[in-house]
Amino acid sequence: MSNITEILKKNTLEIDDICYLLENSDNSKELFEYAYQIKSKYVGTQVYFRGLIELSNICSRDCYYCGIRKSNQNLDRFKLSKDEILEAAIWSYKANYGSVVLQGGERSDKSFVDFIEEILQEIKAETKGEIGITLSLGEQTEDTYRRWFEAGAHRYLLRIESSNKDIYNRIHPKTDSFENRLNCIKLLRKVGYQTGTGVMIGLPGQTIEDIAKDIFFYKENDIDMIGMGPFIPHHDTPMANDLGDFDKIAKDQFELALRTIAVTRILLKDVNIASSTALQALDSKGREKGLMAGANIIMPNVTDTKYRRGYQLYDGKPGLDENCISSRNTLENSIESAGESVGYNQWGDSPHFKNKRNQ
Ligand code: 5AD
Repeated sequence: MSNITEILKKNTLEIDDICYLLENSDNSKELFEYAYQIKSKYVGTQVYFRGLIELSNICSRDCYYCGIRKSNQNLDRFKLSKDEILEAAIWSYKANYGSVVLQGGERSDKSFVDFIEEILQEIKAETKGEIGITLSLGEQTEDTYRRWFEAGAHRYLLRIESSNKDIYNRIHPKTDSFENRLNCIKLLRKVGYQTGTGVMIGLPGQTIEDIAKDIFFYKENDIDMIGMGPFIPHHDTPMANDLGDFDKIAKDQFELALRTIAVTRILLKDVNIASSTALQALDSKGREKGLMAGANIIMPNVTDTKYRRGYQLYDGKPGLDENCISSRNTLENSIESAGESVGYNQWGDSPHFKNKRNQ
């Protein structure tokens, strides 16, 4: 019997077990199959789509890894109008996606906070309250989180990026605070959101043990939804060359990300896990492979294609000219041919959040 079979039989996995599972690429097939069984048992095999609206690349922050960081002057800044956001939300509604995600560069000035509040109210009104709304708009005050919640958003994604404070500090300017980010995650829960977080996988200096601790971090913080993806350098950022020749390690980076999804599923069981676009950047079938490793959420981009070039968080971000309708059909076909189905017209909330409420 191989070591992995013995590990997977244990009731409690210790950090050494987790590291073994994350590290050993020879075991990937068995690991993914086991994670898939856990996914089928705890969250089912329906995949939920969230129409992703990238509403602006104007950002007040300067994260060293991100292509839309404030200091990057090699891109045109854009901001979708209210009508454009509404149009994308209504498109998602009519395509039966059930939910949208509003994501954008981080701003917390009054006009932005008001704008988001108004757009939330309008999306809700235009879709008869039927579409679910997730926000991914960074660190805000409790008051802002509450206003947006009351205006109709009910899920919020705020990646911790790395739960190792030293790594966090290395990839962000000194003015950023790990403690504040952590506090924001707590505020989101307090306000009542289903709370999502996640990390980048394969960051410079990040060890397998760090990734294992990231997974424990999700558990300790009672996280409902997880969005993780491989770190992919962007040429116009301070971290452009930190991993050397990225082409040489891209495949390993991709596979480590898949194994991280699988181990997260095995440990956390009933949470929602997104199969991120960054997986698709490294493998054209990356998102589908993410589903086979334990993820159950996909966020197809529904932003007008003319804005996609301006939202390159990392090099090679896919979907520059991917049309919404064809991407819906392609995804649906590959999901169905893998024996899964799409949960159309449903919010597809995190079972973990519901299970907590029912306890
Ligand atoms: N590689 C991978 N993911 C990235 N993100 C930002 N820049 C990169 C990059 N270079 C991710 C961050 C952020 C999310 C919106 O995009 O994790 O939270």
